[in-house]
Amino acid sequence: MTGQDPKFVKGAFAKIADRYVLTNHVLSAGTDILWRKKVGRIVREWNPRKVLDVATGTGDLALEIQKKCPDAEVLGTDFCPEMLAHAENSGVQKTQVADAMNLPFEDGEFDLVTVAFGLRNMAGWQDALKEMNRVISPGGHLLVLDFSLPKGILAKPYGFYLNKVLPRIAGVLTGQGEAYRYLAGSIGDFPSGEAMLELFRKAGFSGEEAKPLSGGIASIYCGTRGKVESGL
Ligand SMILES: C[S@@+](CC[C@H](N)C(=O)[O-])C[C@H]1O[C@@H](n2cnc3c(N)ncnc32)[C@H](O)[C@@H]1O
Repeated sequence: MTGQDPKFVKGAFAKIADRYVLTNHVLSAGTDILWRKKVGRIVREWNPRKVLDVATGTGDLALEIQKKCPDAEVLGTDFCPEMLAHAENSGVQKTQVADAMNLPFEDGEFDLVTVAFGLRNMAGWQDALKEMNRVISPGGHLLVLDFSLPKGILAKPYGFYLNKVLPRIAGVLTGQGEAYRYLAGSIGDFPSGEAMLELFRKAGFSGEEAKPLSGGIASIYCGTRGKVESGL
């Protein structure tokens, strides 16, 4: 598996858009808020001027970045208008419908691209990372936040929670249990740790690093777009 079916993904998010934020907070017991705050603290250190939050959804990460980097220009994009409508209403500075696999931006337009819980849902992970690399200026950063699978003693209980408990709770909250069974499968298929860093390198990033969160249930991956050789 190297990616997901975009038609299914767009439809699934359109159906859960109205209950997405609440369901996230319930299913993660609020931990997703702490993960996004951690991302905010990391990106503040980079002092970005122009930020693209790809697959922004309801805009939770874009809002956190706006809070931590008040001088930055922040644009949130997503290919699902139903999700993006919530980002607009919650105060994301600027939003635009756009497919992450084919971003409608010039090369090197942003000095930071972020994507939270979005890359895993895209049609091709490697191609999506390459496309993000294209719109980052030389020396600019990419930050990916996404689910990963914990190892060791947490692995079994987390697998049970993910596959058996989570789709039931989410089914009650959203009426869309199927979308959340997809979530469990998509996490199992998605590369994490060193495998993700390898994808970063292949997409043209350097200085790549992985930071596991909450025992490895999620991870932050960072990379820098290499300087373009002038050839002179
Ligand atoms: C799990 S939500 C994440 C939303 C938000 N980033 C957050 O942290 O809560 C995944 C989002 O990715 C979007 N998405 C998936 N594939 C996409 C693509 N190819 N282009 C743009 N958005 C995409 C979906 O529409 C959905 O809004």
